Amino acid sequence: MTVLVTGASGFVGLNLVEALLARGETVIGLDLRPPPEAAAALFRALPGRLVPLVGDVTEAASLDRAFAVAGPGAALAQMAAVTAGDARERTDPGLVARVNLGGTIEALAAAARHGARRVVVLSSVSVYGSNPPPAPTVDEVMTPAAPENLYAITKLAAERAGLRLAAVHGIPAVAVRLGSVWGPWEHDTGLRDTLSPLHAILAQAGPGTEVVLPPLYRDRARIDWIYARDAGEGLAALLAAPAFPHPVCNLGSGRSVTPVAMCEALARALPGFRWRFAGDGEEPTVPARYPVVRPPLALDRIRQTCSWQPRFADPDAAIADWLATAAR
Ligand SMILES: NC(=O)c1ccc[n+]([C@@H]2O[C@H](COP(=O)([O-])OP(=O)(O)OC[C@H]3O[C@@H](n4cnc5c(N)ncnc54)[C@H](O)[C@@H]3O)[C@@H](O)[C@H]2O)c1
Repeated sequence: MTVLVTGASGFVGLNLVEALLARGETVIGLDLRPPPEAAAALFRALPGRLVPLVGDVTEAASLDRAFAVAGPGAALAQMAAVTAGDARERTDPGLVARVNLGGTIEALAAAARHGARRVVVLSSVSVYGSNPPPAPTVDEVMTPAAPENLYAITKLAAERAGLRLAAVHGIPAVAVRLGSVWGPWEHDTGLRDTLSPLHAILAQAGPGTEVVLPPLYRDRARIDWIYARDAGEGLAALLAAPAFPHPVCNLGSGRSVTPVAMCEALARALPGFRWRFAGDGEEPTVPARYPVVRPPLALDRIRQTCSWQPRFADPDAAIADWLATAAR
């Protein structure tokens, strides 16, 4: 299989590229920037082949060049995005719409021009909003879409536009609502304003260090955190699925926990690592983000589509993998 991955040098993109290369696939990685050198070096040891291309997903010429390198019958993973925080919504809303929605429309048009075999459009759990109706799980059909910010609004618009254009051109497609990702390859691309609190926690993790959490995390940010390797492997499995029986499917860990669960797992794995909540007036060492409580994502549809299941839903398993990865 040859896969054109847009946004291939970003956090989730690198995890997808790694999973595809581990499966022996050929990957054309289109991004505004080449992959970080550490990733490129590690990827060279994997069985598949990566062709990184610098280009812009909003420009037809970049996409045509990438599809020409990929050859006919390639799959497309449309992932390039701008994850805007409040400040960027105020200063550059046009960029968010141009990349997230406009880029998806350009990518689908190019997929049709070049006879793409199938398309995975990366969407986000944010389309469900921060306050879904009470239910055991967040379900693709039963839970209403309620996007609250420009990022989520454009992700929902992009998933619908992507599915519509795929249908018009007769290309099998699925839109994937990915949970909140943490773990390997998270880095600041300059286009994602909401790095995960786990990124800050892992950056500080070490024996003899103490992480000071915002009190918010006593009960908030209780959401479906998915370990990045699971996210990459899930997307790779979807790209290889025999068919797409559902137009939209969730991709998550199937568990809702707060970042405290990862701190506790770190403390079990790393002797000397300590964490606590900030006291009154004390500055936490981790940003207070995601003031949300959301049930876990329903995973029935992805299980009906491909054989994937998360390997690292248990925080202890994820932390063990993260420590082994960091030691490489
Ligand atoms: N990180 C999460 O928790 C999460 C959760 C749900 C969905 N997603 C989705 O995952 C995808 C990747 O996001 P991420 O978290 O890895 O963000 P990221 O910022 O780490 O990666 C995005 C990549 O897209 C590239 N990009 C941006 N504009 C581009 C353009 N015009 N042309 C080409 N490349 C461009 C950036 O250079 C960057 O490498 C997005 O579609 C996002 O909506 C992420």
